[in-house]
Amino acid sequence: MNYLMKISSVCILLLASFVPTTVATNKYTVKACTAASLGDTCTLQVVGTKNVAQPVTGTGHCDETVDQKGSVTWADLTLSEGKVLLVEVETHVSSQTSNAGFFVRPTRLTRDWGTANVANKKATFYLAATGQFSVEFASQEFWGGDAALSFDALMLFVNPGADPVPLGATVISDSDSSAPVDLGPNKAYVFSADNSYDWGADKVFKVHDNTQVYFEAGAHVRARIVQTEKKVDNVLISGYGTLDAHYDLEPDVVGVSDDATHQTIGIYGKNIHVVGLTIVNTNPKCGVWGYCLNINANWSPIGVQGDPFGADELQDQTMPAPTYKARQAHCQEKNMDDSANTNFDNCPTSHTDGQLVSYVKCMTWQMGQDGINAGKYGTVENSFVRVIDDAIKPWDSHGVYKNVTIWQQALGWPINFGWWNWNQPDVGTVVEDIYVIHNHNWHTSGGWPETASGQCTIGGIYGSGSVKSGYKLKNIFVETAASCAIGLEISKSAYSRHPTSDGCVGSIVDMQIDGLFFDEEFKTGTGYNNFLSGEASPYTACVGDLKGEIKNLNIASNVAGRALGASDFTMPNAGTVPGLTFTTAVDPHAVPLSKYELHSNKNAYADFGAKGEIDTAGVTVAGVQQCIERCHSDWSCDCVVFQASNNKCSKRRGCGGVESFDDDVNYDVYVRKGSEGGGPQGIMVGGGGAVRSSRLSVLVGVAVGGVVLAMGIVM
Ligand SMILES: *[C@@H]1O[C@H](CO)[C@@H](O)[C@H](O)[C@H]1NC(C)=O
Repeated sequence: MNYLMKISSVCILLLASFVPTTVATNKYTVKACTAASLGDTCTLQVVGTKNVAQPVTGTGHCDETVDQKGSVTWADLTLSEGKVLLVEVETHVSSQTSNAGFFVRPTRLTRDWGTANVANKKATFYLAATGQFSVEFASQEFWGGDAALSFDALMLFVNPGADPVPLGATVISDSDSSAPVDLGPNKAYVFSADNSYDWGADKVFKVHDNTQVYFEAGAHVRARIVQTEKKVDNVLISGYGTLDAHYDLEPDVVGVSDDATHQTIGIYGKNIHVVGLTIVNTNPKCGVWGYCLNINANWSPIGVQGDPFGADELQDQTMPAPTYKARQAHCQEKNMDDSANTNFDNCPTSHTDGQLVSYVKCMTWQMGQDGINAGKYGTVENSFVRVIDDAIKPWDSHGVYKNVTIWQQALGWPINFGWWNWNQPDVGTVVEDIYVIHNHNWHTSGGWPETASGQCTIGGIYGSGSVKSGYKLKNIFVETAASCAIGLEISKSAYSRHPTSDGCVGSIVDMQIDGLFFDEEFKTGTGYNNFLSGEASPYTACVGDLKGEIKNLNIASNVAGRALGASDFTMPNAGTVPGLTFTTAVDPHAVPLSKYELHSNKNAYADFGAKGEIDTAGVTVAGVQQCIERCHSDWSCDCVVFQASNNKCSKRRGCGGVESFDDDVNYDVYVRKGSEGGGPQGIMVGGGGAVRSSRLSVLVGVAVGGVVLAMGIVM
């Protein structure tokens, strides 16, 4: 029994008394307008927001079992090329004021733009490019403490213009009672913002070849879009609407609710594009495992009526290897029993016909729901993932995951390597420019997984006969408290596995982690650590790259100013990790000291050169550089006070002229240039998420809407 199963059995007991309730509390008011350029004003208009509180009112809610509380409010904003958005956010949460900490929180990608004008319960700022932004009110200490599990946050999603809905697209009816509903082939459809798409139970739309499904801005659809019984070609799902898996799945209807289809979007084939959508799982009950979005055809075999695939077939611990059923693979070189696959119709052959996921936001409130997997030759870009299980799962050749922002909740790995092909090479996937804005998984790391490896930022327990090689991870930024960096184990008895028939597990060869950055030292706790181990006792038939080694892993890192080294890791079988190297990474977004003006022997605090104290007590940092980085990653921070004798760093807002600072030889004040007095000056246009392809259309303005598990936990 693993940790998840334990949690799950608790949930099952509690389900009976659960009554779902929609929470309509308006925690934030968001106003925005499009201005021609920075500094220009425009007439602010209220933008629709959506909100989900956690735990959803009621008892027996799964998140509670991992203490995950708080709420998320979000809004989709549209920004046209060459313009800027002026945004005003007001909080209605009684405990929140700018004095209690008010972060308009950029990632490294966006933090150079400038600052926010913050007063009491309001913040005003410009957003000059597309991407994701969070606005949070909290004391500084919350990043590392239990308060991290229980706070109210606002996510602003800044999107490029939507794909226009083609004239003649069929409006999907909200009263169609067929189960499932077929969409296509060769047709365009639209979910209208005027309809209420809620059937009171799980609803599946099955897409076919050459099918486009548009969501009008604000459309909210309680359904899933799935196609796992065949491989399809050319599907587009696009628009700034919401697809919400809200209801329990029926057990095991092939192609509808069997294990292969446990996804809110699960479509297998080639040329599958998902753009702009917000994909949520607001089912308040305990989780059925699954994915927000899994368009990796290699996840499951092709569905066969009468014999649904069960993920537990891949969790069979018969040693050295179970006898796998002869299930037909979608696109893997071999079928599940390792016989040759001979049908590669509609399988991607390059990035050109691979899947594309762009400007997608995936948020779940159900445990056991993973984030995004786009499969072989797939690209995931400019997207946001907030889940209570693994966020991104790169495990197929030639994938590209770039500019993904991750909010990791109390369970799971932000970048999980615990899943796999059955027995085919897995090469050359790139994971680059990943921004982890929260990583609460330290909360359950002590109990999961079973080994000394916790749920770090990168890792998993790998148990496949596929040799994984040439993976490149570049510029992974962890901008929050985290338990550990890398926890990676290869094991012939991994809880999910597909070893070779001899029971061999593939090695992970030549993985490069080129730039893994942590803003803070690791949160210390018990039951987890940085961890590396290959298979300690491979069967004698397992030789070469089937020995299950972690071979030639290079780790270039920077943890609050220092590099990781061997002494940071638990390595119970160091011989299984040959060729491990450590170097220091240089942050490509490092803030030059020249961006701050030094006032030596001065202090700044409320009424002495500062309007507000963001940290009253101050936080211990490694040095001046880390202190100004802290200021730079909070748009409400205008200056920092640094106490060199004990490395204490305190953020201040509304920092005035030098004449108003207090003389004090114990402190130095560093004022962010271009932000004197606070306010959104000095913002540079650009630097945000890349504009997606040529489909970018004209400005639309600012618009928005408003466990079974038991046997087969799949991570
Ligand atoms: C991420 O986005 C930034 C800003 O658009 C861009 O400069 C950068 O190249 C992107 N990263 C990757 C890996 O494409």
